[in-house]
Amino acid sequence: MNNNSSRTDEQETLIQYEYIDKLKDIISDKSNRLGRKLTYNVTTFGCQMNARDSEKLRGILDKVGYVRTESEDADFVIYNTCTVRENANNKVYGRLGYLHSLKKKNPNMIIALCGCMMQEEVVISKIKESYSFVDLIFGTHNIFKFPELLYNAIQSEDMIIDIWKDTTRIVEKLPTSRKYAFKSGVNIMFGCNNFCSYCIVPYVRGRERSRKPDEIIDEIKELVSDGVKEVMLLGQNVNSYGKGLEEDIDFAKLLRRVNDIEGLERIRFMTSHPKDLSDELIEAMADCKKVCQHLHLPLQSGSSEILGKMNRHYSKEDYLALVDKIRDKMPDIALTTDIIVGFPGETEEDFLETMDVVKKVEFDSAFTFIYSKRTGTPAAAMDNQVPEDVIKDRFDRLLAEVQSIGRSKAETYTGSIQSVLVENVNSQDDSLISGRMSNNSIVHFPGDESLIGSIVDVKLTECKGFYYIGELDG
Ligand code: SAH
Ligand code: SF4
Ligand code: F3S
Repeated sequence: MNNNSSRTDEQETLIQYEYIDKLKDIISDKSNRLGRKLTYNVTTFGCQMNARDSEKLRGILDKVGYVRTESEDADFVIYNTCTVRENANNKVYGRLGYLHSLKKKNPNMIIALCGCMMQEEVVISKIKESYSFVDLIFGTHNIFKFPELLYNAIQSEDMIIDIWKDTTRIVEKLPTSRKYAFKSGVNIMFGCNNFCSYCIVPYVRGRERSRKPDEIIDEIKELVSDGVKEVMLLGQNVNSYGKGLEEDIDFAKLLRRVNDIEGLERIRFMTSHPKDLSDELIEAMADCKKVCQHLHLPLQSGSSEILGKMNRHYSKEDYLALVDKIRDKMPDIALTTDIIVGFPGETEEDFLETMDVVKKVEFDSAFTFIYSKRTGTPAAAMDNQVPEDVIKDRFDRLLAEVQSIGRSKAETYTGSIQSVLVENVNSQDDSLISGRMSNNSIVHFPGDESLIGSIVDVKLTECKGFYYIGELDG
């Protein structure tokens, strides 16, 4: 498929708004005929980037007149997929069977698939062959074309597939519908150029490209005027933000500019690659009072040899030295990480190096993953794939260590007073409300929904391992 390069990014936005108008008429006609509103459901798999993309899909569906439902028994269902590990794909295939049974009962139902998994040719072939009831498929690079594609899908009897191999485009200013009124993700860059040898993301998200700083700042100002207090700056490697832009900008400078936005109260970002975390960024984080006391810094492995094979461009010692530097400037910062167990060739000694880093750094929490072979990545072709039982044993040992350290780290905050952004009424006990501390931990405390979206001081009275019970202070 081509990149529709005859349209500029600005023209593209206008064209998509024209499709939104056309869709409004079609949806309104349809619902008049049926005598009821048409419903939609967006299900998101994967990372924050996908969650943000789903807010864009919802924004458009809201605009054209669909009504949101949590049930997948809806008139329009879309899965925004992830393919980072094999089990992400399996989940989607499993649930498609269920969707088919719903579609047999509802002839109006339209089923769409988008996201990272759709950028893989094998996936498309499999869907064409075994899931022919799917109506619309598109990928990560042309998600902004959703209004046009939905319009075509509604008119057509056939499966519509539009996948681009890559793109240089950044099409902005289409509607979004945020999950939370008071916080929002903000894309600062798209794609990834790092090609960690195990990772499929660069193949499905394309080459790295940064948004212009002014566009980012304008978007955040608009969000703030709409009630947003906290933003999460999103990119696969935010530390390399700004490369290729004409402006004199990098992530540290961007952070300072975002920090200056009046009315904004909290800034988070994801994800930081250790190889690109500069001294300037550490300075900026320490200086900028709105930047939360939390850094997610994926380790992946503690063995320098494995890190080399992973193409991560840092050693065990580099990582430990970086952590020291960060803690020196920000002693209270919470550090979290991602770790992969069972990368090809990982020996018991390599694994013990990972355990050693975990013990030395004392992460506040860690996401631990079993290595998943992704076809097309260099690691998939490596010798010495580690047997499943060995991986499982290492994974269990790592998880136990990570959890025990996490628990004792969490305990040290008990009794302290923390500023908390209230997110929701507790789903199990409606006399409690729940919010997040600066370090990203969750606390539940007595209160009512009028506090949702406010930042309040909460005393942590009890640590429950990975969350707290507290009470409003003062
Ligand atoms: N850009 C981010 C991570 C994106 S993917 C970064 O570089 O940190 C999120 C996490 O999934 C990664 O940090 C890694 O730990 C894990 N992951 C990626 N590919 C994987 C694979 N093939 N098998 C298991 N875990 C994987
Ligand atoms: Fe994958 Fe590495 Fe890019 Fe992260 S930095 S998305 S792990 S290739
Ligand atoms: Fe998954 Fe794509 Fe994110 S593969 S982790 S949804 S970038």
